[in-house]
Amino acid sequence: MWKKITYLICINLLLWSCGKDDEGGYESITNQQEENKELDFQIPSNFPELTYDLTANPPTEKGFELGKKLFYDGKLSSDGVVSCGFCHIQDFSFTHHTHIVSHGVNGILGTRNAQPLHNMAFMKEFTWDGAADHLDEQPIIPITAEVEMNESFSNIIAKLKGDEVYVELFKEAFENDEVNTDNMLKAISQFLVMMVSAESKYDKVERNEGAVFTEEELAGKAVFDQKCASCHAGTLFTDQSYRNNGLPLDLEYNDIGRERVTGLAEDHRKFKVPSLRNIEITYPYMHDGRFATLKEVLDFYDKGVEVSETLDPLLQQENQVGISLTEEEKQQLITYFKTLTDTNFLLDERFAEF
Ligand code: HEC
Ligand code: HEC
Repeated sequence: MWKKITYLICINLLLWSCGKDDEGGYESITNQQEENKELDFQIPSNFPELTYDLTANPPTEKGFELGKKLFYDGKLSSDGVVSCGFCHIQDFSFTHHTHIVSHGVNGILGTRNAQPLHNMAFMKEFTWDGAADHLDEQPIIPITAEVEMNESFSNIIAKLKGDEVYVELFKEAFENDEVNTDNMLKAISQFLVMMVSAESKYDKVERNEGAVFTEEELAGKAVFDQKCASCHAGTLFTDQSYRNNGLPLDLEYNDIGRERVTGLAEDHRKFKVPSLRNIEITYPYMHDGRFATLKEVLDFYDKGVEVSETLDPLLQQENQVGISLTEEEKQQLITYFKTLTDTNFLLDERFAEF
């Protein structure tokens, strides 16, 4: 009994002191807000919970501005030319669309197709094989990769410290005023976190905002829900798992996919199920950009799926390999996919380089 009461008193004391702390924290946030306003981040009503912890790095006006400047700045690479935006182009939902695989400093080719950047705040892991499990850490990969930006953080920080505009921006964006790697990564994340694509026709239908699917789009949706949505699931069009969808082995790159991260043979040639938002314009397709058109992708699921040890069970059912699709169904799917294009996002000036 006494034990219980003492316990309760302790808990109360703890809560009281937490409460006090909270008040203190709140005050400092409001003070900061006077100079550097927190941005209003709204989760679209048809979207899942955020994975990005906004309380640890709340996007602010200045942090976003800094993140955007960094995103488009060649200073982050060794040749002064290759910025994040060099490979992630807004008009194509931030893919490097003309390139099958990306190319970085000195034109060196990478081995993978640049991914679109949208709705990153809802993703659990990043890149085709999930090599980064936090958005703040993701940029470390392209910045240091020889085939991408090929630069070191100490060099970048030195360059930024020598630039008055940056010094001022870091000061305005972060309480500790410092030009350092941590703040740089946080600022880039603030920019990426705000990149939400949720204004496509599909969204407007889903949220009952007055848009209606045509018959053809509805037919495409029915095929999709039946044959594709088990992996390309939910509003984000990905269940965020790693799977082998049966692409024939590519001898040039021989990419082992998720196995590179986990070291497990069972993950051989598995890749993250990509979101299909804005898919109409994020060509070429697949981790190595092997398909130029959606028609080629659908022909592949219909006729080209290759059996291997790790092929996903969903793609080999009842003695059938792949997903059979009639030509009519393919056309309907392509029409449906166009409802996932979010022009507002592609033209949103907040994210534009100029
Ligand atoms: C040379 C081209 C290139 C440059 C420069 C580049 N990226 Fe990428 N980006 C890629 C490629 C290719 C992938 C896929 C990588 C993989 O799967 O290994 C990718 C993946 C990503 C992802 C993961 C997306 C997802 O859905 O998981 C994010 C986030 C990202 N890049 C952000 C950045 C940022 C921020 C910068 C600048 C610091 C940057 N990229 C610079 C080519 C590039
Ligand atoms: C078993 C899970 C699974 C099923 C079912 C599935 N996909 Fe995929 N899909 C994937 C994976 C995994 C990838 C990425 C593969 C890679 O690049 O190695 C992918 C890639 C794609 C891409 C390329 C996306 C991009 O950004 O490059 C498209 C388009 C696509 N799928 C459409 C479909 C359609 C349409 C269907 C139904 C006919 C379907 N998928 C069924 C798992 C699946």
